Amino acid sequence: MSSRTVIRGGLVVTASDEIHADVLIEDGRIAALAASGTPAAEAFTAERTIDASGKYVVPGGVDGHTHMEMPFGGTYAADTFETGTRAAAWGGTTTIVDFAIQSVGHSLRSGLDAWHAKAEGNCAIDYAFHMIVSDVNEKTLKEMDLLVEEGVTSFKQFMAYPGVFYSDDGQILRAMQRAAENGGLIMMHAENGIAIDVLVEQALARGETDPRYHGEVRKALLEAEATHRAIRLAQVAGAPLYVVHVSAAEAVAELTRARDEGLPVFGETCPQYLFLSTDNLAEPGFEGAKYVCSTPLRPAEHQAALWRGLRGNDLQVVSTDHCPFCFSGQKELGRGDFSKIPNGMPGVENRMDLLHQAVVDGHISRRRWIEIACATPARMFGLYPKKGTIAPGADADVVVYDPHAEQVISAETHHMNVDYSAYEGKRITGRVETVLSRGVPVVTEREYTGRKGHGVYTPRATCQYLN
Ligand code: URP
Ligand code: ZN
Ligand code: ZN
Ligand code: ZN
Repeated sequence: MSSRTVIRGGLVVTASDEIHADVLIEDGRIAALAASGTPAAEAFTAERTIDASGKYVVPGGVDGHTHMEMPFGGTYAADTFETGTRAAAWGGTTTIVDFAIQSVGHSLRSGLDAWHAKAEGNCAIDYAFHMIVSDVNEKTLKEMDLLVEEGVTSFKQFMAYPGVFYSDDGQILRAMQRAAENGGLIMMHAENGIAIDVLVEQALARGETDPRYHGEVRKALLEAEATHRAIRLAQVAGAPLYVVHVSAAEAVAELTRARDEGLPVFGETCPQYLFLSTDNLAEPGFEGAKYVCSTPLRPAEHQAALWRGLRGNDLQVVSTDHCPFCFSGQKELGRGDFSKIPNGMPGVENRMDLLHQAVVDGHISRRRWIEIACATPARMFGLYPKKGTIAPGADADVVVYDPHAEQVISAETHHMNVDYSAYEGKRITGRVETVLSRGVPVVTEREYTGRKGHGVYTPRATCQYLN
């Protein structure tokens, strides 16, 4: 039995085009597009019609960096796959790529199995996995090949967090060499964690315990140094490199230099680095703890370099690094010692809106909005053209977006399972109205119509952004 939907009269925006077109959806996929008002469009018939006049029709967001239920610092990120993917859908994101974790002494397989068990049957939207590699050894390297074959085609390594996720340069080089052979993409948390830990110890010894010192010890120079080192290790290994959560202007400069040399290195930043700053970390009364994440927020001067990087394609992707911890009971673990504040911020629901605001503010174009939030993450992580675009054959993951609606972001109204918003009170022009996931309405005119278990695991091809 076929089921058809037609979305009429909207401005269809993809990474490459803007056209006034009607979109025909059949059996969960985009079947056809035709210029609105033409006989070809009028010939579309369907059981359900969505009126998108005056609205944008855009691909569902692809958030390539989330941490649902992530264990960190003795607690767990507060969004489960159920609550986090529901919130994502509310915000116009229809695919997440979350990070399965290998713990030291265990296999990649057991980590991946554990993440499948958390996610399966619980997600409102489609999901895929990267793998965090915390223990590089012969067995791990062999397992990387198997994971690539089954659709887990990217591996995150950490130059930070000694004793937890940290890999030394030799382990990083080995994993990169393996990735160069099997087509995997190494994603790097680029901060010099060994040096940072010395500065943490020294700061605490001086009695500098407030959240703002988190930003001071995790220096921009130590992000830039690690970014440089990761780039050169990848160059030696002959592997592509994707640097996650880039926040420092000096780190962007390293990426720019490498890309000017023709190296296949890519960078991601996150809304928190584009819209927030060390001013937030310095908020009084321990409020700054809400903004503790790594890499840390930077002085506002860094933002211009991030926007420039996004416009000029030295940065290719904006993901959220969604890793929420409640202020009450979780962030509070670090009262009196900033190093015990669980690292991470909420944002999976806010990314599409914040980046639309960036269009309104003139930082990026509409098409670039879709490119950095939908199309490029899909390509980067091997999900294209199933995800990330509106074209015949693609999954009908579609958002009807009202570019004129006004909203104010608030924890009172958001759907993430966390007791604060990092963007409390921020005014946004634009709002998600309707969201389809494989043709199924998940949000219908600002009402939640999705269900847990609709979202399915989506194996990935290797990186499609290399040529
Ligand atoms: O502070 C952050 N970013 N928490 C999540 C883990 C990571 O490093 O991405
Ligand atoms: Zn128009
Ligand atoms: Zn990280
Ligand atoms: Zn992360």
